[in-house]
Amino acid sequence: MSTYFQTGRDVPEVSLSGAFSCANLPGSDTLISLGAEIVGNGMVRDVVRGGRLSGEREGDIARYLSSSWADQWIGEADLLVDMAHVLMLKEQGIIEEVHARALLQGLVRLHHDGLPDAVYDPEFEDVHAGIETYLTGMVGPDAGGRLHVGRSRNDEVATCMRLRLRDELLALILEVVQLREVLLAVASTHVESVMPGFTHLQHAQPTTLAHHLLAYAVAFERDTGRLLDAYRRVNRSPLGAAAFASTGYPIDRESTAARLGFSGLLENSMDAVSGRDFALESLAAVTILMTTASRLAEELVIWSSQLVGFVDLDDRYCSTSSIMPQKKNPDTLELLRARAASVSGELAAALGIVKGLPQAYNRDLQQLSPHLWRGMDETRASVRILSGAIESARFVTERMAAEAGRGGSTATEMADTLVREFGLPFRTAHHVVARAVRHGRLDAAGLEEAAHEMAGISLAERGMDQARVEQALDPLESVRVRRVPGGPAPEAVRAHLAVLSSRAARDSEFVAHESALVRQAIDGLVQTVREEIR
Ligand code: ARG
Repeated sequence: MSTYFQTGRDVPEVSLSGAFSCANLPGSDTLISLGAEIVGNGMVRDVVRGGRLSGEREGDIARYLSSSWADQWIGEADLLVDMAHVLMLKEQGIIEEVHARALLQGLVRLHHDGLPDAVYDPEFEDVHAGIETYLTGMVGPDAGGRLHVGRSRNDEVATCMRLRLRDELLALILEVVQLREVLLAVASTHVESVMPGFTHLQHAQPTTLAHHLLAYAVAFERDTGRLLDAYRRVNRSPLGAAAFASTGYPIDRESTAARLGFSGLLENSMDAVSGRDFALESLAAVTILMTTASRLAEELVIWSSQLVGFVDLDDRYCSTSSIMPQKKNPDTLELLRARAASVSGELAAALGIVKGLPQAYNRDLQQLSPHLWRGMDETRASVRILSGAIESARFVTERMAAEAGRGGSTATEMADTLVREFGLPFRTAHHVVARAVRHGRLDAAGLEEAAHEMAGISLAERGMDQARVEQALDPLESVRVRRVPGGPAPEAVRAHLAVLSSRAARDSEFVAHESALVRQAIDGLVQTVREEIR
């Protein structure tokens, strides 16, 4: 399900019990008496713009400038950033308690009630201006006008992005771990289900369904690793960098970082506001992940074709035709395949936006954010679809078994048998078997003839008979002897399954641990604010 406009997910609720009451807050009458200018929907005019620039922008210019649409992703995060910032300003003696109290009351109210649509009005350049303006409307310009001391929207937006992206990454990693677990669970019931393996989409050598699925499980494990790496670099605080040169106020960057649950600071204030490699890295990781997912989706599309018939997808993941009554089409997986292309397009666009930018902040960076959010959103939805499609699919093992030995799939094992048991050099064995295949006679008599033709020898004299040939041509036998680590033999696959499932458990524990840390910090922040305004 799309999470596109679900802001505030994972943001804890504040219950308004105790001494705090919304009645303390000024209404719009008070605002007007405080001198705020009320426009249209009861909002005061954009507090950022007033001083330097003349005139109002026309609607389409305002909309062109505004990031309000993509800011729906970061609005709730912005409230948390405001809370941490105001607490710190008060503790450092940069603003007075009475002003901090009013600001925090307003912020708690917005946090509790949810942000009104008005803060996302494209008349505002962004949600930061929207919230500051709205809050100023609530608490009056004397307190409201002190919210932004010692910071800039440049460090503010970078902080909000990292907060939201942190949640997105953790949620996505969990989905990928679940997908890995689904693959492992299905694989564990198919370690002896032989099927043909392909190269060039031609029958190549027998393998098992389990071995084939584990090829994806390990790829998704590496994809998880890339997301975890990105997470570690995302979870650092740019707050306090201000426009880029930090600030002369005695702010405490460590305290805002800790309150927001960041693991540390971005050390250089110029880099802190202008760096978007954290977003590029996350997009690169999801692009690679989607590439893996798309390959698997493609495979399932092929397997579900009646030409192949290896899988029967659950109806929920399929569509039918408006004209052809018999049709059952694997549409969800086709859409996943296409979404992988969209996500790589988001990465390409984001790379293009960043690559030509001098230090420090440039407004181009605003245009990167929608690419980031769309990429994260489409990826998470796709991973979930893929897990469900695989978990509910019926793999047609009879068809796989019927195909496993076809097309000379076991010819390699036949050649290997001639090497191991009858002393031929591998290249000679390869030629002998190839010639038997060419004659369309891969049996004892055919091999005997080919051996005479290609090498001037008799295999029968060396003890080869039809029974030994049939054993070598048995697909399961061919799988069983491939028992080196990573091979398809059931014992090798069982050993690998154990390792992979313990690593999946380790990754899911890491996510649980990090999510708990983040939640603890955010709950603590909101709790501290509530105590402050009691
Ligand atoms: N909406 C802006 C963005 O997403 C916030 C920063 C605006 N900064 C500025 N100098 N105009 O990047």
